[in-house]
Amino acid sequence: MPITADQERGFYDAVYSRFLERPDHELAVNREVMRRTLADPRQPVFERRRLYTEVFSRLLAMPLSGLRVLDYGCGPADWGVWVATEGADVTLLDLSPAAVELGLRRARASEVSHRVRGEARDASDLTCFHDGEFDLVYASAAVHHTLKYPRAFDELVRVIRPGGTLLLAETYGNNPLLNFARRVRAALEGEAEEQGEEIILGHREIALLRSAFTHVELHEMNLLAMGKRLLRGKRHRRWARGAVSLLEGADALLLGMAPFLRRYCGEVVVVAVK
Ligand SMILES: C[S@@+](CC[C@H](N)C(=O)[O-])C[C@H]1O[C@@H](n2cnc3c(N)ncnc32)[C@H](O)[C@@H]1O
Repeated sequence: MPITADQERGFYDAVYSRFLERPDHELAVNREVMRRTLADPRQPVFERRRLYTEVFSRLLAMPLSGLRVLDYGCGPADWGVWVATEGADVTLLDLSPAAVELGLRRARASEVSHRVRGEARDASDLTCFHDGEFDLVYASAAVHHTLKYPRAFDELVRVIRPGGTLLLAETYGNNPLLNFARRVRAALEGEAEEQGEEIILGHREIALLRSAFTHVELHEMNLLAMGKRLLRGKRHRRWARGAVSLLEGADALLLGMAPFLRRYCGEVVVVAVK
């Protein structure tokens, strides 16, 4: 049975409420904090550092000052608040009111409240935004949650201006072996269904993007290097990081020689221009 938006909201409210207890200095974000966090093996995000480093570079290469950005399914809002510190005018959107409250607190702690607003609502109804309101919609690990809701895709496309960009950082779901491993891991770890992980972005969703955007570029990464999942909890060990680096090197060779294998990678950055 697919989960409901209420169940998903409840799950994420409980997750993000815990961060609201933290002091301001732990909540503040800026370019340096983002860099440090991505390079710190103790941070959960380290496991996806290649994915997020790619996104970080792409965002840094954009003229962020004055850009109207929607952080879509913002969660703890690191990305939205960070781009506001670079001068963007940011809207945080999440189904979870706790996520949006946390994001607004982080914006205050980062001294960019004047450039950040928040909307706690379901992405399948974005009538609070007019057509083409945003130059850039950024979503990390979020569209695979929202696509299961009717109208969410149309709404996502509608709020991007013609010529505007959709930037996604996602798990890539074309590899049956990786998908099987994900299901086994979720079952073993007792992953909550309310977490809403039932869709993984794959060919079908990419085809949907191609139907609505004029240009869609994929940057796939990590094939053998998805073995990093087996080293969860060991990332602080030098040998574990060395093993992942070896796998990443092997991927560079393999994907260079056989580019068709890219479709079976486990993570992807998508840049779609409307
Ligand atoms: C895996 S989290 C990712 C959060 C954040 N983007 C990040 O990278 O850390 C997925 C987020 O999508 C949000 N979400 C799920 N369904 C949604 C919906 N229908 N509308 C808006 N947000 C939704 C969840 O509340 C959650 O914060």
